[in-house]
Amino acid sequence: MQGDTLLQVEGVSKRFKVRGRTLHAVEHVSFDLEAGKTLGLVGESGSGKSTLGRVVLRLLEADEGRVVFQGQDLAKLSAKELRARRRDMQIIFQNPLASLNTRMTVAAAIEDAMIIQKMGDSAAERRKRTDELLERVGLPLSAGRAFPFELSGGQQQRVGIARALALRPKMVVCDEPISALDVSIQVQIIELLRDLQRELNMAYIFISHNLGVVQLLSDTVMVLYLGEVVEQAQSQKLFEAAQHPYTQTLINSILKVPKTSADKRPLVALPGEMPSPFSPPSGCPYHPRCALATDRCKSEKPLLRKISAGHLAACHYAN
Ligand SMILES: Nc1ncnc2c1ncn2[C@@H]1O[C@H](COP(=O)(O)OP(=O)(O)OP(=O)(O)O)[C@@H](O)[C@H]1O
Ligand SMILES: [Mg+2]
Repeated sequence: MQGDTLLQVEGVSKRFKVRGRTLHAVEHVSFDLEAGKTLGLVGESGSGKSTLGRVVLRLLEADEGRVVFQGQDLAKLSAKELRARRRDMQIIFQNPLASLNTRMTVAAAIEDAMIIQKMGDSAAERRKRTDELLERVGLPLSAGRAFPFELSGGQQQRVGIARALALRPKMVVCDEPISALDVSIQVQIIELLRDLQRELNMAYIFISHNLGVVQLLSDTVMVLYLGEVVEQAQSQKLFEAAQHPYTQTLINSILKVPKTSADKRPLVALPGEMPSPFSPPSGCPYHPRCALATDRCKSEKPLLRKISAGHLAACHYAN
């Protein structure tokens, strides 16, 4: 049954034309997301995580496939209907400063989000709700009078969260929301996101290089490689019994990478280089880097197939 299904992504592809060549950023990705649940998206830089997040929000148009939110195909909505839907689907970015208008005070930025979406009837109501939001994300009310650049990185991210919450969304795409923050602040923001999710029953698409955090927050995890899903499973299962050699390498790499304050590089420590997205390898896209690859992997592309209930992997030798 899909009684609780909030989002259905069906066979979505997104390609970019770059100087006459086609780059496959996202290829035939499908998943469902239930209300109040978290899908973790992992994969190296360039694997298509942000592109997928943007296609889901229809900030980018898909070339193929469908995005169905609460039973509505987003591609079929008029501009006006889409604007109304946008209220339910928000995004939090890695760099909150870049997404905030630097000439607006924090309170004005939050109220502006409500005005654009026609929320709150009066200015007094909007102001009251802004104060509540500031308090809820752990900011002093005085932060409302500040300009974003006057705040610390962690405070800026709290503003980004408050602004997203202003519209009472049902789903939030969190695109590397903690990558730019110090480790101690990362923990606070993660706890805040988790508490808010429980309180407000929001679904998250949580994109992060930090597999530990993904494990902590996600109900389901999807691993992307060169724009394709190579493995997908319930979080605990994925971390305990990963089937795809790429996922296994990703998980093993967590243990080897020293924690830095910025914690941006864990996945860069993988052996080998990601192939060019303009000319993906024949057969299995991971075969040039896979220690277990055989001749079959070089020529025959493995399909994403069911390994067990809710567990999918695209490897000839999984299981
Ligand atoms: N607007 C664009 N025009 C052309 N190519 C793009 C565009 N946006 C993304 N790409 C390409 O699409 C691929 C996927 O990029 P994307 O930003 O989605 O990856 P990502 O997994 O979010 O990476 P990161 O971890 O670095 O944020 C990359 O090869 C990227 O260069
Ligand atoms: Mg990205």
